[in-house]
Amino acid sequence: MMKFETLPGFRTFYPEHCAVRNYLFNQWRIVAQLFNFQEYDAPTLEPLELYVEKSGDEIVSQLFNFTDRGEREVALRPEMTPSLARLVGSKANSLKRPIKWFSIGEQFRYERPQKGRLRSFYQFNVDILGEPGVGADAELIACLIESLRLFGLESNDFKIRLSDRKLWVFFLQSWGIAEAELPSVLTVMDRIEKMDESAVFDQLKPYFSDDAHAFLESVKSFLEISSYEQLEPFFSDLKGSVSHISGINERISELGSLNSLIADMGLSDYVVIDFKVVRGLAYYTGFVFEAFEFSGKGRALAGGGRYDDLIDRLTGNAMEAVGFAMGDVTLLDLLESKGKVPTLHQAPTVALIFSDDEAIPLALKDGQILRRSGYTVEYPLRKIGFSKQFKEVNQKGIPYAFIYGSDELKENKVKLKNFKTGEESLIVREELMMIEALQTDS
Ligand code: HAM
Repeated sequence: MMKFETLPGFRTFYPEHCAVRNYLFNQWRIVAQLFNFQEYDAPTLEPLELYVEKSGDEIVSQLFNFTDRGEREVALRPEMTPSLARLVGSKANSLKRPIKWFSIGEQFRYERPQKGRLRSFYQFNVDILGEPGVGADAELIACLIESLRLFGLESNDFKIRLSDRKLWVFFLQSWGIAEAELPSVLTVMDRIEKMDESAVFDQLKPYFSDDAHAFLESVKSFLEISSYEQLEPFFSDLKGSVSHISGINERISELGSLNSLIADMGLSDYVVIDFKVVRGLAYYTGFVFEAFEFSGKGRALAGGGRYDDLIDRLTGNAMEAVGFAMGDVTLLDLLESKGKVPTLHQAPTVALIFSDDEAIPLALKDGQILRRSGYTVEYPLRKIGFSKQFKEVNQKGIPYAFIYGSDELKENKVKLKNFKTGEESLIVREELMMIEALQTDS
């Protein structure tokens, strides 16, 4: 009977799972380095306050929080962004801008466990802080694309859906939505894909009374926009005049600049404009984006955007920011479905085989020397028969073994066996470390 089970939504990582996890982390670190981001980390347990009101209702309702023994209200981090904002904001004056930082770490959200959603998962967070221009947004979209490409995924495997909170706000303002109501209406818009029309209608009624149907029709055509060229005609045709709302044209041309930078990098094939992306988190202020499997089905692989107010709100030091986070769960699901998880071998480089007891002390001595020279060395931890040792080396897929026998040792030699080819040769003990084959082949 199994007495203690893993909690729902948490995973155990057996060595083969750790090998895959390390593979993801390694690839993430490679991309971060290619874009010259520096790694940081922050505590897993943070003051509850850091998330309340800053991350938005959805995340707050999913917190793992409790009162600690010192009567502090604390929470396991559900995301990195508020911690990053605090880290950067509290050193705002001494950090050279733009600040380009990344982090790989475990996050916790009390969600209903389901495909692509767990209660503990890992995120690759990449952010640029202190840079207001669209160059930073473009750099992050490029970094997200290259991260996915490094796993062997191509433009027909995934797409980035790019949207803009500012254009959403202009759109809602053109329908007379007041400033104070914007966050709640945006929350409904964020869930629009997941709800049926009557539920959407009910939730919009308080803001529109009679107009809700007409508004929903207009939302539908807004959501049909898939290219930059469709934006200007859409906004100039909007119900009523939007001329009293200044800044729309400037914003459309900023999106144009972002689009051009993406095109300059040769990445247009990966990106579509899609206002269905609103982002559930409350702090986003500008361009927002999400990565999805190509069909658009399933949960997001990554999400992010610009959050220019958060650092000021948390620390009193104003600083622009934009970033994204990619999760390991949906990414791994996609890689598995595409057969893109490489076979990861952890076979030791060299085994020591003892043909008789007198050989053991010298073999153990050599084993330590080999390890100090960087070889992975394995040998039986208790006495087992000579032929059984061969069998185990074979089963484990170890490519080489040094066979320690007292006859050879009388001449200060050991036998090297290549288990792939069956070849054997005699080697002087002092020369063990210089064996070419071990250095190049394993
Ligand atoms: P997010 O959209 O909440 O954004 O999460 C980003 C990614 O983390 C998701 O696309 C998904 O892959 C993964 N993820 C989120 N929740 C879960 C879960 N329960 N189980 C498995 N995977 C999950 C953020 O967290 C923002 N802080 C990203 C950001 C960084 N924005 C600016 N900088």
